[in-house]
Amino acid sequence: MNPLLWTMDGHAAVAQALTDSVGAAAAEVVRHRFPDGERYLRVETPVQDRDVILLCNLDHANEKFLELLLAAETFRDLGARRIGLVAPYLGYMRQDIRFHPGEGITSRYFAAMLSRHFDWLVTVDPHLHRYHALSEIYRIPARAVHAAPAVIDFLRGRDDLFLLGPDAESEQWVSEIGRGAALPWAVATKVRHGDRQVSLNLPDLDAFRDKQPLLVDDVISSGGTLRKAIGMLREQGFAQPACLCVHALLAEDAEEKLVDAGAAELISANTLVHGSNRIDVAPAVAAAVQEMLK
Ligand code: R5P
Repeated sequence: MNPLLWTMDGHAAVAQALTDSVGAAAAEVVRHRFPDGERYLRVETPVQDRDVILLCNLDHANEKFLELLLAAETFRDLGARRIGLVAPYLGYMRQDIRFHPGEGITSRYFAAMLSRHFDWLVTVDPHLHRYHALSEIYRIPARAVHAAPAVIDFLRGRDDLFLLGPDAESEQWVSEIGRGAALPWAVATKVRHGDRQVSLNLPDLDAFRDKQPLLVDDVISSGGTLRKAIGMLREQGFAQPACLCVHALLAEDAEEKLVDAGAAELISANTLVHGSNRIDVAPAVAAAVQEMLK
């Protein structure tokens, strides 16, 4: 029987790609929030022996996580064969080491909790910094789809650009995209001083004077990193930089602040729904889900 899909956290493009590629049928789920905030779920579609796909982005994970686990348990209790999670954006990846005594390595605990409730996971470019693969923390088959091929297609022929990654972590994306799209690239170094404060050191960019900078990062959260880069590039007399990210988290008023800082344009992949979505990763996500269901 074809798999059931419940789109918990609306993502029309990915849901449509899953419907088209794996023939997923939408599960009918009645969802209710009690006055005290507790959740009620009732699945109205037969579940017995069917594969179930829960589509739920894990930005603002604190608000979504409990309902997600309750949903997984409900589907399992109703007889689902296997339950997979499609989270184009996977949260809780930043704390991948005990930076200070007493801290929890929350990426590990988060992964362990998801691994207890799901049979597989598909996500897009999780923030793998000190971990090299999701398998270091996830105990279930976990596939990280790469946005780079879609970004490369999007940028092909843009010879007017040079790519700048703001920090060492971004090198994995910037280098792959630069090579694939035949664009020059460079990487800055970053020191983080707080949630919203960073300092950057730009490399020598003289060779790119005649080109527009395109800042490339996996995530824009507060926008502090790219704001700092934009300011420094403008001080050096470069044209207004454009910004490209995989995950447009854009917390608080990050987008407005980027524009105020002088961003020419904001471009993102459609892992998180945002007005800047120009790069479609839904087909790649659907292809990875197809593999998982085999
Ligand atoms: C960190 O290493 C990431 O790659 C991003 O650079 C970071 O998450 C961006 O955060 P923010 O927009 O808050 O500076």
